Amino acid sequence: SSESLSGRAPQQQWSTRISFVLAAAGAAVGLGNIWKFPYVAGENGGGAFILVYLACIALLGVPMLMAEVLIGRRGQQNPVNSMASLAQEAGASPAWKNVGRLGVVTGFLLLSFYVVVAGWALAYIPLTAAGTFTSMQPPQIGQLFDSHLQQPLPLVGWSTLVLLLTLGIVGRGVRQGLEKAANLLMPLLFLFLLILVGYAATTGHFGDAVDFMFRPDFDKLSASGVLIALGHAFFTLSIGGGAMMIYGSYLSPQISIARTSILVAVLDTAAALLAGLAIFPIVFAYGLEPGGGPGLIFVTLPIAFGQMPFGTLFGTLFFVMLSVAALTSAFSLIEPAIAWLTEKRGMSRLRASVLGGSGIWLLSLGTVFSFNIGADWTLAGKTFFEALDYLISGWMLPLGGLLMALFTAWVMKPETTALELGGDSAGYRLWLLLIRFLVPVVILVIFLQAIGLIGL
Ligand code: PFF
Ligand code: NA
Repeated sequence: SSESLSGRAPQQQWSTRISFVLAAAGAAVGLGNIWKFPYVAGENGGGAFILVYLACIALLGVPMLMAEVLIGRRGQQNPVNSMASLAQEAGASPAWKNVGRLGVVTGFLLLSFYVVVAGWALAYIPLTAAGTFTSMQPPQIGQLFDSHLQQPLPLVGWSTLVLLLTLGIVGRGVRQGLEKAANLLMPLLFLFLLILVGYAATTGHFGDAVDFMFRPDFDKLSASGVLIALGHAFFTLSIGGGAMMIYGSYLSPQISIARTSILVAVLDTAAALLAGLAIFPIVFAYGLEPGGGPGLIFVTLPIAFGQMPFGTLFGTLFFVMLSVAALTSAFSLIEPAIAWLTEKRGMSRLRASVLGGSGIWLLSLGTVFSFNIGADWTLAGKTFFEALDYLISGWMLPLGGLLMALFTAWVMKPETTALELGGDSAGYRLWLLLIRFLVPVVILVIFLQAIGLIGL
């Protein structure tokens, strides 16, 4: 009916189903899979944590991913306008467009620290390639990471490089930028991951890793571990940040949202599990700690790479892979803001990229400084980086996801959502059931326990 629902120009659409799947998998597979997943799984005891994580992906993550993609596909615009026109279509309050605003802001803030961590990955490529770790003792490798964090200027340099690479791709638009990059980079990423798993298998400790990851020991899993698994399931699928909404808006009407979303979730899960299978055998082979925390891949792994045959080559490959994963997610984090600036403010893509990029860059300084000169600027005992991460991963993403779920479940008309999801089938009924009841209840329980109203 309204012009907003009429679709985008071909240049602003994915040309094939698989391009959307690869771009959305690019958004999903990122630092969350390769940096965060192995260390949080390690810290929370392995198998049981991973089982809960997989259940969260299947029962909550997939329906929420479908809901977010659905809003974008139906709205055919940036998150703010899409929410506004769908609210209008459903006869609901225009205030729902604030959910789109929340998504744009969340993605923007998240990118401001994402580029910093991605910068570490980029910095470790030349460092590893130069054979730095082969001549170092383990404590020195730990010190190297610490001293890397101590120097603001190189950190700013690396995160600026990440941002420039991101803008260079995103500035080219959907077909020429996002789609081409995803079609090239995602197959490479999975190839590198498989090579690294094969390499890890040569250490002879593959069985230990499989045991650690897939033999659940529920005594090792605490209530807070369950919450971490849940929060990570949302983070890893990029739910609630507007990224999947904007990518969904570039999807043409005849493509199945259910099938593509499931495929994206499968690829994201595969990437996390493969990263675990690439990392843990190496960790066990060298008698290192799987619960090594955020330093797991920047300290523990380099220690092992320094001693392993061909460690320089495969270590370099590892950090290239990590950088690629981080970059394809970074594209998706700024795209909602770019689309909003171009569609709503009438800017050119180039101008929007420069403006958005400058904002991110300024904000990223806060994260950079929180590791060195600003380490003492704390809020409730958290540095700027920790506070931002907590605010975004703990509150903004789940809140955004909750509101999107509620919107598709209770505000949009079931006829409309059924139409977008390919008809009123058993699968559709299951989706509706999960998104109406299970998703809101579980997220509300997390919020209540986070503010201390209930104990788990
Ligand atoms: N899913 C990404 C990761 O696992 O690293 C992070 C992310 C990207 C979260 C985009 C949210 C988002 F909108
Ligand atoms: Na992910």
